Amino acid sequence: MTETSNAQWHDEPTDYDQTGKLPRVRPASSEAPNLGSLNITAATTDPELLDLPWHVALEEWPASALAALPRGISRHIVRFAHLGGSVIAVKETGEHIARHEYHMLRKLQRLDVPCVEPVAVISGRATPDGEELDPVLVTRHLKFSLPYRALFSQTLRRDTLTRLIDAQALLLVRLHLVGFYWGDVSLSNTLFRRDAGSFAAYLVDAETGELYPELSTGQREYDLEIARVNIAGELMDLAEGGLIEEKVDPLATSELIMDSYRRLWTELTEQESFELGDRWRVGARIRRLNELGFDVEEYAIKTAANGTQIQLQPKVVDAGHHSRRLLRLTGLDAQENQARRLLNDMDAYRADNNPTLDEEFTAHLWVNEVFEPIVRAVPRELGGKLEPAEVVHEVLEHRWYMSEREDRNVPMAEAVQSYLDDELRHRRDEAAIMLTADAETIGIDEDSEHSDK
Ligand SMILES: Nc1ncnc2c1ncn2[C@@H]1O[C@H](COP(=O)(O)OP(=O)(O)OP(=O)(O)O)[C@@H](O)[C@H]1O
Ligand SMILES: [Mg+2]
Repeated sequence: MTETSNAQWHDEPTDYDQTGKLPRVRPASSEAPNLGSLNITAATTDPELLDLPWHVALEEWPASALAALPRGISRHIVRFAHLGGSVIAVKETGEHIARHEYHMLRKLQRLDVPCVEPVAVISGRATPDGEELDPVLVTRHLKFSLPYRALFSQTLRRDTLTRLIDAQALLLVRLHLVGFYWGDVSLSNTLFRRDAGSFAAYLVDAETGELYPELSTGQREYDLEIARVNIAGELMDLAEGGLIEEKVDPLATSELIMDSYRRLWTELTEQESFELGDRWRVGARIRRLNELGFDVEEYAIKTAANGTQIQLQPKVVDAGHHSRRLLRLTGLDAQENQARRLLNDMDAYRADNNPTLDEEFTAHLWVNEVFEPIVRAVPRELGGKLEPAEVVHEVLEHRWYMSEREDRNVPMAEAVQSYLDDELRHRRDEAAIMLTADAETIGIDEDSEHSDK
């Protein structure tokens, strides 16, 4: 499975001289239908890809091929299917759109922004009696991710919503930093994963996206305006369906994205001036950025003409400060807030046990004595409920609250058992939430009390 030789998509075009949606028409095909000759462009070698029923319209795929997972709202037909050990999302769409989105997702992956992983574009599909079928874009299903409508069981609470919007704002900032203009920012085009009580957002729909060397303020503001309008629409929709806490005002809430985005953008990019004597502010700025989860790879410092003032501007910032530190110290791969949480616990562990021990060695001890025992304590049948790093985060929280409530230092083993019995057992399975036949996106596990935490 290699790049196709007849289609010249290698230098994938991003300049469609239009800013909004691409046209949703099927490209007029001048070629005769390519009976039975599939054309597969794939990023990975998944030989099982050939076993899927590509000669059948996606809507008619047999249940045996499908994976019942919650899907967001979409115009195109999207289905989840099993592929080897993993799950893929298959979207039927036009050839031009599928290839554009495929290449865009590959570029975004290389730029290290959170998005779904492109697997393949398959065209030349036809039914056995020669009827042409739309090409498909295949992406890897993002494990433990949920569309926003599946994140809550009964009603969406205001603070959950605020955290969703903050995650969305961070994603938008990260995309804008690499020069990606999204063009269709919305909660539906984003997937969310739990991240130590907050959420981490991933781009799922790159169809309207364009990459530039750098975005102008106008482009960024335009994207932000699209975000606000779309989120307002999505929240009004939820409100009409009674799916949102009553005190939430959809319009006012949608505006939170503006604030959250602008605050973050300013902190990450703004030039700061101060007196030469206040040099400590360089270090302070960098620490603030680290706190927000960014590393400063490069910054510019200039002294003003009169020699008494310094100008400081971060130039290249890189998200994932805590994840990288955790990975370096322990080899554990976690999301940013989870990593921050785990590192805090590791620091406390060092302070409690041996404050003079070096960081690397503490990390090693902490993994063996704290992290691993918690993960190992989770019975196999509960393993699909939450990601290991999220479980450890929740156990640490649980232990903290328990100790506070009972006014004693609850031993870890006791806290773990209590967490498993009182909390995890009652959570729904987030690795693979099953759906009832007609509930496409919501109404999952109505009696789960703990899912909107
Ligand atoms: N790789 C994936 N992992 C998990 N979910 C996915 C994946 N790909 C698609 N989905 C689900 O399918 C939904 C629809 O996908 P997508 O937004 O790409 O379709 P679309 O028809 O282009 O949407 P739009 O109507 O915004 O144009 C998403 O909201 C998401 O819930
Ligand atoms: Mg979409």
